Amino acid sequence: MVLFSLKNINFTYYNYYKMFGKSNAKPQIDKDQLELLKNAQKRIKQKKRLYIHFVVFLIGSVFFIFLNLVLGLGKEFRPFDTNWFVFAILIWLFLLLYHLFNVFITHKFMGKAWEENQLQKLVSKQEKRIESLKQNLEAEASLEDSEKKKSKLTLIVAAAENNAIGKDNKLIWHLSDDLKRFKKLTNGHYIIMGRKTFESFAKPLPNRTHVVITRQANYKAPQGVIIVNTLKDAITIAKNDTQPFIIGGGEIYKQAMDMANKIEITRLHETFEADTFFPEIDTSVWKETNNIFHKKDENNEYDFSFITYVRS
Ligand SMILES: NC(=O)c1ccc[n+]([C@@H]2O[C@H](COP(=O)([O-])OP(=O)(O)OC[C@H]3O[C@@H](n4cnc5c(N)ncnc54)[C@H](OP(=O)(O)O)[C@@H]3O)[C@@H](O)[C@H]2O)c1
Repeated sequence: MVLFSLKNINFTYYNYYKMFGKSNAKPQIDKDQLELLKNAQKRIKQKKRLYIHFVVFLIGSVFFIFLNLVLGLGKEFRPFDTNWFVFAILIWLFLLLYHLFNVFITHKFMGKAWEENQLQKLVSKQEKRIESLKQNLEAEASLEDSEKKKSKLTLIVAAAENNAIGKDNKLIWHLSDDLKRFKKLTNGHYIIMGRKTFESFAKPLPNRTHVVITRQANYKAPQGVIIVNTLKDAITIAKNDTQPFIIGGGEIYKQAMDMANKIEITRLHETFEADTFFPEIDTSVWKETNNIFHKKDENNEYDFSFITYVRS
């Protein structure tokens, strides 16, 4: 019964691990189980020894009587006018009673109630372990969940070797592949920009949610364009997007650099005269994870590289 219950605990514990994909986890109660088993075996041995003692006592008593009365051994030896076998049997009976006392009184703590008590302790210990494992797994799962849900704020920019990004509120170059990449990456996402960058567009870009930052109180923009007065508000508005993009210009990049998780930069291998620049990328903070070089061609007038940085 005890072993059956223990098996059940072990089974539940093991299955719990299996359920959550940790099939190689080893149940930890083997030591406790072993101790319980050893005690049960010891107890059986004690009772067996007592029983043998009782049988030997009976045979021995008959043997003493036989020796004294039938064979006449020590017939003259009669302390207190009584046959000696009576004293021999009484002394042995005392030893037997002492043995009996030891097994059922002194070692009572190893009896059934004690075993059940031990078992109960084991059960509640395992229940606590399972509960804490459950909590840990739930915490891990919710952490993973929130990590997944967390927005990956990304700066996207095309910058020259000297970090030039614009002049007279215009881009300095035309790189067809860069525009395609910008379109592909930002498609369907929030794009956050400074008022000047917004005004450098002929019209809002299709299939993207525009968030424009300005200090002006009554800035007017086409329908669907969201106007905010701080960068923080812009990021808050885009928080449900898994990857909102900061698309410029120079002022906004500078302020957003510390808040972003990722930078997608198209690095033109050329130097340009400019009035707007991208901030220096601190390589002790940003780790390069991808770098693809492109040679200039009929659609792209300069050599360039698509480089990805993530916050390290
Ligand atoms: N190469 C590229 O990838 C790239 C990308 C984007 C832009 N650009 C170039 O960058 C240039 C524009 O950049 P820029 O630095 O001059 O301007 P910007 O960053 O696009 O916009 C600056 C404006 O944003 C608003 N603003 C900035 N910080 C703010 C804050 N903390 N709170 C509220 N509003 C704030 C202000 O608008 P108000 O004045 O209305 O208050 C400010 O005048 C252009 O030449 C453009 O072509 C290049």
